[in-house]
Amino acid sequence: MGFRRILVQLTWVGVISSVMVAATDTQFPSALPNCPDRCGDLQIPYPFGLTEGCYLNGNNGSTEFSVVCDNLSGKPEAKTGDFLVTDISIQEGQIEIMMDNEIDCYNSTGTPLSLSKPRRKRSLTNPIFTISHTKNKLVSVGCDSYAYLKGFRNDKRFYSFCRSICDSKSDVVNGSCSRVGCCQTDIRGGLKYITVEAYSLYNHVYVWEFNPCGYAFIIREDKFSFSSAYLTTLRNNKTLPVVLDWTIGSEKCDLTRNKSNYICGENSRCVDSMYGSGYRCECKNGYRGNPYLDHGCQGIQFTY
Ligand SMILES: *[C@@H]1O[C@H](CO)[C@@H](O)[C@H](O)[C@H]1NC(C)=O
Ligand SMILES: *[C@@H]1O[C@H](CO)[C@@H](O)[C@H](O)[C@H]1NC(C)=O
Ligand SMILES: *[C@@H]1O[C@H](CO)[C@@H](O)[C@H](O)[C@H]1NC(C)=O
Ligand SMILES: *[C@@H]1O[C@H](CO)[C@@H](O)[C@H](O)[C@H]1NC(C)=O
Ligand SMILES: *[C@@H]1O[C@H](CO)[C@@H](O)[C@H](O)[C@H]1NC(C)=O
Repeated sequence: MGFRRILVQLTWVGVISSVMVAATDTQFPSALPNCPDRCGDLQIPYPFGLTEGCYLNGNNGSTEFSVVCDNLSGKPEAKTGDFLVTDISIQEGQIEIMMDNEIDCYNSTGTPLSLSKPRRKRSLTNPIFTISHTKNKLVSVGCDSYAYLKGFRNDKRFYSFCRSICDSKSDVVNGSCSRVGCCQTDIRGGLKYITVEAYSLYNHVYVWEFNPCGYAFIIREDKFSFSSAYLTTLRNNKTLPVVLDWTIGSEKCDLTRNKSNYICGENSRCVDSMYGSGYRCECKNGYRGNPYLDHGCQGIQFTY
């Protein structure tokens, strides 16, 4: 008797607690009181915010956590600086934004098409952001192409690159990014203030018929699977998703915990950022919600 009964009870506990979590999650406040917490479908949790007083101000009133919600295209779009925001995660301390695909095209005799580089290069200059080294790769697609990444790591210049070549489209294998038509390389932890550039060694003259353009970009790894079709079609993807880590301030937990600008709320703990400076907040075990709000972490055991 006993065993079966315990099993049944355990199952019920599982069902009830997942129902509770689902039900209470949506009730948890994610923004400061009287602050808008959405831009279209996207939730904008504190420390991010849409209007003054609703996002966290840095030292000397800086506005790194400000997100602008505009409707220029007819539907609401959230932006941090120039970049479109597609997701903000409080639990992981991450934000997904759309960064530029650097497109490098030539005519059949190897002259760069000026059309392919119409815009100024947008670099990531917000100091709260580092490129997540666990979620992204640096990628180049093309048969005479390389990707060149410039940035800073521990306040020192840092460079990385990968090169991709091929002689014919039939050498290229779908799903394989191993320097034939596509190359990818790991992102080092703690990279900030990055720009990516696309280059070519022979200006695509030997491969032009099937690959007139090369591409260079950072991309969220789980949203990229190489296809030979990308040799030509990737010029239509002007931007691609990238995951950034964000942190609060420039000091570690020990230094900041007793200061007036320390923001982790009740029932939360402070976590040092893995690279460089700053900290994050997490709800203690048994609590859920937004640890950056004073009373954001709420118990999940007895919330009926
Ligand atoms: C955004 O623009 C569209 C089209 O111009 C308009 O119908 C809609 O009401 C606007 N939405 C907001 C929130 O302003
Ligand atoms: C490529 O562009 C250069 C410079 O505009 C031009 O002189 C050349 O004729 C072009 N080649 C072709 C095949 O269009
Ligand atoms: C790779 O996939 C694309 C579709 O995404 C297809 O058109 C192409 O033929 C495939 N190439 C190879 C070499 O299998
Ligand atoms: C490029 O854009 C197409 C069409 O919007 C989309 O289906 C595809 O997933 C994009 N590719 C990448 C790598 O994001
Ligand atoms: C911070 O405050 C706590 C109690 O308020 C105290 O025990 C601790 O020594 C303080 N730490 C520092 C570094 O001042």
